[in-house]
Amino acid sequence: MGLVTGLEILAAARAGGYGVGAFNTNDLEITQAIIEAAEEARSPVMLALSEGALKFGGPALVEICKYLGGGAKVPVAIHLDHGSSFASCMRAIRLGFTSVMIDMSHADEATNVAETKRVVEAAHAVGVTVEAEIGRLGGIEEHVNVSAEDATLTNPVEAERFMSESGADYLAVAIGTSHGAFKGKGRPFIDHARLRAIAAVLPQPLVMHGASGVPTALVERFRAAGGVMGDAIGIHEDDVRQAVTEGIAKINTDTDLRLALTTRVREVLASKLEEFDPRKILGPARDEMKRVVAERMHVFGSAGKA
Ligand code: 13P
Repeated sequence: MGLVTGLEILAAARAGGYGVGAFNTNDLEITQAIIEAAEEARSPVMLALSEGALKFGGPALVEICKYLGGGAKVPVAIHLDHGSSFASCMRAIRLGFTSVMIDMSHADEATNVAETKRVVEAAHAVGVTVEAEIGRLGGIEEHVNVSAEDATLTNPVEAERFMSESGADYLAVAIGTSHGAFKGKGRPFIDHARLRAIAAVLPQPLVMHGASGVPTALVERFRAAGGVMGDAIGIHEDDVRQAVTEGIAKINTDTDLRLALTTRVREVLASKLEEFDPRKILGPARDEMKRVVAERMHVFGSAGKA
């Protein structure tokens, strides 16, 4: 099946009423875990690489994604997460990405429209599809740190105007989620009514950033293995399931994979003091991530759709 555009995967998801995971990767083991889970669950998937991931892994990381994604038995898109500029999106397209996000959500609406439109025109000319964002999520992103007070939820009227003026293919909306392992005091409030209002005026696939579940069991294991983490809380599975029925087609997950990898590495190192074979340390971590990815694919409803 191999590499396809983000839109091909997401249009089918929105039409079919299921969500597809965009899982962030930084290295070989994370990419293998995502692709293997997708193949076993028969799920389409998006490999998300941030600018930070590209800096960390370089073009070699993209080649790993192209090799594993292109050879997969399920549809895979390689997506630039939170592209901060036109140049950054063009670089990604040149490297072989099939989907890019231009994130100008921190700029004023006119700048957001103008920059998104520029990326859309160039990307579409070479068959790549584009995600944009309007509204502002809380938490730490690649290039901005937004406090909870500065987070702004997406306005449906602005969202409709933005999509018709920019021509973007899918839209990230701010409805109460935030990036990172701490998403609120108590269960985060997800504004489902707002999401339904946005979906009512936009037929395009909608995107939920900051969607990690931050499973309590994993956080407890992380702590038990010596990790230090303050309050931690994620998005409740029921909110994700409901959001999918309301128009969310792409669900971003990074924190859960970071947590799975680090927890398992800590556990192995703590229980096998003599171990120094990287494969015996990173192998179990890869299995743990694979388990987390597969679990999420069942929650999103994408399992069995490829
Ligand atoms: P989490 O921090 O909830 O995993 O969100 C990741 C994300 O939205 C990347 O764009």
